[in-house]
Amino acid sequence: MHKVLIWDLPTRIFHWALAGSIGATFVFAYGFDEDDRMFQWHMLAGLIAAFLLVVRVVLGFVGTRYVQWRHFFLRPADSLSYFRNLFGRPATYYAGHNPGTSLVALLMFALIPLLVFTGITQAWESSEDLHAGLAIALAVAVGLHLAGLAFYTMRQRDNISAAMVTGYKTAPINSGITSARPWTALVLVVVIATWVYALLGSYDARQATVKIPGLPGVVHLGENEQEEHRD
Ligand code: HEM
Ligand code: HEM
Repeated sequence: MHKVLIWDLPTRIFHWALAGSIGATFVFAYGFDEDDRMFQWHMLAGLIAAFLLVVRVVLGFVGTRYVQWRHFFLRPADSLSYFRNLFGRPATYYAGHNPGTSLVALLMFALIPLLVFTGITQAWESSEDLHAGLAIALAVAVGLHLAGLAFYTMRQRDNISAAMVTGYKTAPINSGITSARPWTALVLVVVIATWVYALLGSYDARQATVKIPGLPGVVHLGENEQEEHRD
């Protein structure tokens, strides 16, 4: 086993941007009252997470080997064999996602659009309980993700978390990708920064509205009760 390049730069940038935006949704949701203007940043962070997910869907088709959708292991037979051998000697070595990380990653990818949809529709109807329930499910998924990383680190005595920073993982020498794709990463950063700039540029804190770049209409951030409270 050697240290080989597994995660390209675009994937790592996506990962930390997603982790940051999801972290921010929780901090602003639990840190501020719904009537507080700062709470609107909860919704802006959620919209940014949704855009990052769109970017990730594209990377799943055009990205390097381990980021591609066909490199997620979701067959029940793979999962069964993986979880059966969890405390023993692993039957198969996975250089990219293993069946455990594949399941948790896809669970997160499924929950985020549902959260954004129930979040946006809350502005005019009550899907509050569903939204709060989905948020707990996402927090559990993130908890499982971190617990899985800690478990792997202890079992393999290999700091797997560093792989999402450096891109390098302990794996068979011929399993690595050939390039970290720095130019694709640059394009990705420009695309994300432009979209976020346009989103924040259209944000009206007083009216509690924002326009999602690329989509028609405006989104109301909450029930716009701030004016009444201030007057
Ligand atoms: C809110 C916080 C986080 C979220 C939402 C999150 C989400 C994800 C997702 C979606 C993936 C799959 C990557 C992909 O295929 O695009 C992933 C993989 C990964 N994450 Fe996180 N992550 C979070 C925090 C962290 C932290 C704090 C660490 C390190 C300490 C970390 C380390 C990793 C690693 C090493 C992988 C690759 C796992 C593998 O080998 O399959 N993540 N994460
Ligand atoms: C990944 C994205 C998101 C996550 C993880 C998330 C998470 C949460 C959490 C944890 C709460 C607090 C629930 C409680 O009080 O028990 C909350 C509340 C809320 N969220 Fe989100 N949210 C997301 C996206 C959005 C979006 C995009 C919007 C609207 C554009 C939104 C609108 C709201 C509103 C209006 C509330 C207050 C009502 C309530 O307590 O349920 N959220 N969200």
